[in-house]
Amino acid sequence: MMVSGFAKAAAGAAAALIALVVGSLHVALAATGDISGPVPSTGFGLVVWGGGPIEALVSAAAARGCPLASIWVTAGGSTSGFVGYVSGAPAFVNAPFSALFPTGVPANTAMIIVCATPAVAGTSSPSPTTNSCPVTSLRAAAAARGFAIGMGGLNQSSLYMIRDPNARETLRCAATIVTDNGFYWQTVEPKQGQFNFAVGDEMLAYAQANGMEVRGHVLVWHQSLPPWLEGGTFTPEQLKAILKTHIQTIVARYRGKIRAWDVLNEAIDDKGNLRDTIWLRALGPEYVELAFRWAREADPDALLFYNDYRNEGSGAVSDRQYALVLDLRARGVPIDGVGLQMHLVSGGENVYANARAAALAAMSTNIARLGALGLAVQITEMDVSVLKLQGDKLAVQAAIYADVLRTCMAAPSCTALLTWNLDDGHTWVTGRYPGSENDAPLLFDRQLRPKPALEELRKVLAAR
Ligand code: XIL
Repeated sequence: MMVSGFAKAAAGAAAALIALVVGSLHVALAATGDISGPVPSTGFGLVVWGGGPIEALVSAAAARGCPLASIWVTAGGSTSGFVGYVSGAPAFVNAPFSALFPTGVPANTAMIIVCATPAVAGTSSPSPTTNSCPVTSLRAAAAARGFAIGMGGLNQSSLYMIRDPNARETLRCAATIVTDNGFYWQTVEPKQGQFNFAVGDEMLAYAQANGMEVRGHVLVWHQSLPPWLEGGTFTPEQLKAILKTHIQTIVARYRGKIRAWDVLNEAIDDKGNLRDTIWLRALGPEYVELAFRWAREADPDALLFYNDYRNEGSGAVSDRQYALVLDLRARGVPIDGVGLQMHLVSGGENVYANARAAALAAMSTNIARLGALGLAVQITEMDVSVLKLQGDKLAVQAAIYADVLRTCMAAPSCTALLTWNLDDGHTWVTGRYPGSENDAPLLFDRQLRPKPALEELRKVLAAR
């Protein structure tokens, strides 16, 4: 297959952007299965844009010495609703991808491979006893409050955080880290029955060496499914077996090590119905409880969460979510908590900027009713866009973060606040929303300096 014009343009722009971030990179265009460019010994080395079947590119990259565990692939349109992400890749690769394909990429026609050869050789892990978090008392303040199920407070994701020495130090503010896309289905089971735990294992090793917890995300989701699953023809019985194997293989492997899992993600649509997914179509609504029961079987001690967005305050999604978990609890289905993603980043109105008191009150009511069911509530993926904030944007952002944390901590059931990604240079937001390239939704800036929001969170934690 010929490399198309847009793929060439994409490669050029991606090269420019990535080179800015990490310095020297080897970039090559590729026709199907034709991978070129050297694979360096450290760092993110080989970026290849090409066309053709994913598997051909993956095996060609592997043949060139790119370790299988380090190959990340995406194909536009290969996963429902997912155009423009590079799943499994660092966020800085995400940024150009969606910007370059604003109207979407036809299925299986363009893709990017990043060969991320291990960068950890020669860099030692920091001592577990050293806390060089830029705001040194943050983690301790959270721990003192017993926040985040004994995990502490602020949490991050992605391998760059533990491979980059500077990011790694900054990460010491966090007590829990999230695997980001390391457990996305297409990452962890890229071929049926073939599991790849490289990301999860690396994150867990780092976390264990530093007294942190790993939050497992995510077992059942309608996005980031591999082509063999999404494009396959399976009977309902086969899909049921596939789902059970997937859940139980992953949870059992990390039994006793990963103590909280997002078992089910985003299963409710905007209208408050169960989302039309491969699982609902094949198994009916019963798939929800099956997922939780199978996870519990595989690790009886893990905390099992339902996780969603648009679910933190009032509205159709929150109400449907409440009805769902109420029913699960009433019937003894093993569910321990609800995750409020808290992405305050979409293109719509930011009620936390414009009507914050009402939004916080609704959130408080919602957390209370979930808590009354005996469920933990965690803010699992927070980020706050500054694009539509008025005045001193960083100060307003800081106030929003602090108010959300205060509201959460006022409820005994609310046990954690996690951000999604570490710093403004590595946020999924810039790759997701057109016009968001300069957004700055996180607690650390692009130079990993703490932002006002971090200090405001520390104050909230210290005050309790
Ligand atoms: C984001 C990831 O960070 C990206 O790497 C990916 O390409 C897109 O999705 N809700 C979720 C997360 O539950 O898994 C999503 O993560 C953000 C929205």
